Amino acid sequence: MKVFHNKSELSYIRDRLKSENSTIGFVPTMGALHNGHLSLVEKGLSENHVVVVSIFVNPTQFDNREDLKKYPRTLEADVALLSNVSNDKIIVYAPSVEDVYGDKVQSESIKFDGLENEMEGAFREGHFDGVGTIVKRLFEIVKPNRAYFGEKDFQQLQIIRKLVELYHIPVEIVGCSIHRAQDGLAMSSRNIRLTNEHRKAAPFIYKTLKSAKTKFGTKSAKKVAEWVEKQFRKQPLLELEYFIIADTETLKPVKRKSTKKAYRAFIAVYAGDIRLIDNIALN
Ligand code: PAJ
Repeated sequence: MKVFHNKSELSYIRDRLKSENSTIGFVPTMGALHNGHLSLVEKGLSENHVVVVSIFVNPTQFDNREDLKKYPRTLEADVALLSNVSNDKIIVYAPSVEDVYGDKVQSESIKFDGLENEMEGAFREGHFDGVGTIVKRLFEIVKPNRAYFGEKDFQQLQIIRKLVELYHIPVEIVGCSIHRAQDGLAMSSRNIRLTNEHRKAAPFIYKTLKSAKTKFGTKSAKKVAEWVEKQFRKQPLLELEYFIIADTETLKPVKRKSTKKAYRAFIAVYAGDIRLIDNIALN
């Protein structure tokens, strides 16, 4: 398994691959890899000659210093997991902060047609400036043919689609379905930080999303949201931050349902001090 820590080494291999007409799939991650990440890598391998996986805890997308400090960093274990998937078709890029940002660890301010103001953008200040800045920079370094993003972070996926449109970046963005634990909890690098008690309580999030989907068939978005809020008030271990039903394209909260539009329900919940997000397609 090739593991590079700086972009000059990576660009050397990248140029060689390009000269051989090999296609490059790209899976950007912040590490602490789990089966959700690996499902993206596998999809990438099925559609490209090689897959570059970046492992980089991007400081500019954290609005909370403590969360950044505590974010799990497990490079050795990550590389071992990836080598079980493929030893010769995966390239890991695990740069330092300096390699990516130089001496200016700052994000650009990017407008994504308002997508950045909803949900995660409203609750995590500057988050999507950080995500947009790092992904744009990684695209410049890796120059992939295709890049793979999970629907787990659906708003991020839509923002990246907008990013490549705005900056005319020649890469195909591929959305990948949410990978879940057997009990329904969406896989996340943050799950390993949950206490046993919170881990046991957390599948309630997806269970409630599924019921909300059923209710949305006959009830208004407002009524569904009220029902969800009531369910969480009965859960001492989980604190609901938001539950929002939004238009899949604009991510604007639905006011009146239209049969012509696609909707999704988005949720953010605190389990102790761990923040979990999830979402589900409604129609
Ligand atoms: P990270 O949270 O590590 O996620 C990396 C990719 O894996 C994202 O596209 C995310 O949506 C996807 N992913 C995570 N859990 C998943 C699951 N359970 N099922 C399917 N896909 C899943 O998202 C980031 O990192 C960062 O914001 C990044 C894009 C790397 C920029 O720093």
